[in-house]
Amino acid sequence: MSNWATVSLENLPNVKTAVPGPKSTEYHTRCAAYMKGYSSQVRLFPVAFESGFGYTLTDVDGNTYIDFSSGIYVTGLGHCHPKISEAVAAQAKKLMNCHDFTTEVKMKLMEKLHEVTGGRFGGFQLYDSGTAAVEAGLRCARAATGKMEFISFWRDFHGKTLGANSLAVVGDDTRLRAPGFYLAPRPNPYRDAFGRSKEEALKDSTPYLKMLEGMLDNECSSGGKNVAAIVLEPVQGWGGSVVPPDDFIPALRELCNKRGILLFADEVLTCMARTGKWLAMDHWNVTADITTMGKGFGNGFPVTCMAVSKELAPAIEKISASSSYGGNPMACAAALASLEVIDEEQLCERSAHLGEIMLRRMEQMKAAHPIIGDVRAKGCLQAMEIVKDRETKEPFIEAGQMIYKTAFAKGLAWVPSGHILRLSPPMVLDDEAALKGLDIIEEAVAETEKHFGY
Ligand SMILES: Cc1ncc(COP(=O)(O)O)c(C=O)c1O
Repeated sequence: MSNWATVSLENLPNVKTAVPGPKSTEYHTRCAAYMKGYSSQVRLFPVAFESGFGYTLTDVDGNTYIDFSSGIYVTGLGHCHPKISEAVAAQAKKLMNCHDFTTEVKMKLMEKLHEVTGGRFGGFQLYDSGTAAVEAGLRCARAATGKMEFISFWRDFHGKTLGANSLAVVGDDTRLRAPGFYLAPRPNPYRDAFGRSKEEALKDSTPYLKMLEGMLDNECSSGGKNVAAIVLEPVQGWGGSVVPPDDFIPALRELCNKRGILLFADEVLTCMARTGKWLAMDHWNVTADITTMGKGFGNGFPVTCMAVSKELAPAIEKISASSSYGGNPMACAAALASLEVIDEEQLCERSAHLGEIMLRRMEQMKAAHPIIGDVRAKGCLQAMEIVKDRETKEPFIEAGQMIYKTAFAKGLAWVPSGHILRLSPPMVLDDEAALKGLDIIEEAVAETEKHFGY
């Protein structure tokens, strides 16, 4: 099948100026005089972008980069996919907002979403950010159960409003978390909390499940009887593409069933082919009671969704679920076109394939470079951990930042997180472009190793 996003690799990347270039620097300086609170992605490499096409990004100085960031796990179907851009533009000329009244495009989106998620859900509600969908999920869990507390997991991320923020440690200020929200350890096979090797940790999640039972019995109120839901990212995104052992999520489902607790899968980042399936939970054939979807759902247009099981559908009616922008006609047009594109271009399969070839190449890099401690991938959700020493696994943040900046300057746009380098390539990436991007990363790793005397 031909790929609309394919471009010649002869001139890609194409970095013609020192980067960030003069125009980027001017624009960023003028903008940052007023705009505050930039992410580390921008602070470390303050380039100003002008346009995007497929898996490329072009800055205001005319430099073109291979894009391994998809914004921030968002534009998985490629920048400005023609079908999606046209659908949004056409809708923008017709009707932009009519509160939560039904429109033809919303009707079609509901039917398509029902189809691609295998008819497992009993109700959807649409929002304009992942955080808003997560908040609605929390309200739904409380409304359905009459219980107030939540358990979520170390280094998961769910958003930055009070409820979502209380499910995680965001930034340095843990005082921002509300009472009744508990954090439990989850399997991170490379850094197993029980001191086992990655190979051993991948075989057995029992110690984590026991810890969770202990928390329910001893830490939560009323021996865990007031816990409405256990909330998790099926595969950790922000935490560094951490894939759980295969037994973890089915065991969690069982624990929830046994103790009458809802399972809430936050798939804002992992949905829509990012991990090689429509939903990441499908890797383990588990359905959550509440599911949130975002990012790739509208391929860049802000549209997200909270979905609940058939049993929970009545709870949506209890939470005053609608909002000003949720499900506006442009958002529905973007989401409908995105779902159709994933289907038509078989992007789940493509994502799984890219995950395989890129992980193989990253394994080779790990074998050649001592500062790469771990590499991992589930489809197009990938990461590399940079360490000072393979034995101690001490995070090497300075090296991680240098690799990020060096590769970016060579023409690879991607996502840093301290010593964890996160790869979030779009699923329309060609194999050759994927491998070229990884060659750039390897050059940056080699230069960084040399710089630090390895
Ligand atoms: C798993 C997860 N949930 C929720 C959110 C919040 O989404 P948004 O930034 O759209 O509010 C994010 C954002 O990164 C996320 O990764």
